[in-house]
Amino acid sequence: MQQLFARLLPSVIALILQCLAFLLTVLGLRIANFQFHPLIIALLCGLLASLLGHLCGLARWWLPIQLLFAPAVVLMLNLHIPSEFFLAAFIVMLVVYWSTFRSQVPLYLSSERVWKTLEELLPPAVAHKKFTFMDIGSGIGGVLSYLAKVRPDGEFFGVENAPLPYLLSRFRIQLANHPNCHVRWDSLWSCDLAPYDVVFAYLSPVPMEQLWHKVKKEMHPGSIFVSNSFAVPQHPPQYSITLDDMHRSTLHIWHM
Ligand SMILES: C[S@@+](CC[C@H](N)C(=O)[O-])C[C@H]1O[C@@H](n2cnc3c(N)ncnc32)[C@H](O)[C@@H]1O
Repeated sequence: MQQLFARLLPSVIALILQCLAFLLTVLGLRIANFQFHPLIIALLCGLLASLLGHLCGLARWWLPIQLLFAPAVVLMLNLHIPSEFFLAAFIVMLVVYWSTFRSQVPLYLSSERVWKTLEELLPPAVAHKKFTFMDIGSGIGGVLSYLAKVRPDGEFFGVENAPLPYLLSRFRIQLANHPNCHVRWDSLWSCDLAPYDVVFAYLSPVPMEQLWHKVKKEMHPGSIFVSNSFAVPQHPPQYSITLDDMHRSTLHIWHM
């Protein structure tokens, strides 16, 4: 069963198991001729869905979601909230998180301590020579606009594929009037890393191995790759810096 599901996205597995748990619970109750309150039925569905999730190898943090999903649906239906509310909530989630269900890289932001440490890692100023920096998955542009302000001798680039964070970052950069800062709406996978002296990533554990192949293939000798919090399996960084911010972020640094 685990091998069968290994190729599917966790969100798809979770959905399939919810449907399966619902079918099995309703069928079981029909056969046994039991009648329960909808909330109890939903709880039984949730219990079965999280048990199946455990058996199919879903990560541990999925299990409470599996458990509470059906009861939450029943409770929300009882509140008689207009359906437009759910449509609006779905649209907001869509423009903020976009393809997170596939990429498994959600939006969360680097702290100011990370921005300041990145500033220290940038190449030293050299007269008449600009360096280049790329934030792959640039979110709402916090890293870029800070660095563009403190290092006017650098050109700062970002690529972001979620529409709302992208638009917010454009707005932020325009408002702050940083002529050395540029963001584009695209996937990081179609961005060539060769032109950049420093590449920064704050993603998730999921894409790190694939990203490492891209970094090795495209980044030029002498450039620096920095990953916030997520290491590359089997390829330890040259050094790491642990910060005293809220998340105790660790920056992993590779000199190419
Ligand atoms: C953890 S946030 C980091 C935001 C920002 N770099 C920072 O450090 O504050 C990761 C961002 O990567 C974006 N992202 C995920 N997959 C992407 C892809 N394939 N191409 C471009 N952006 C992506 C997400 O939408 C999210 O905004």
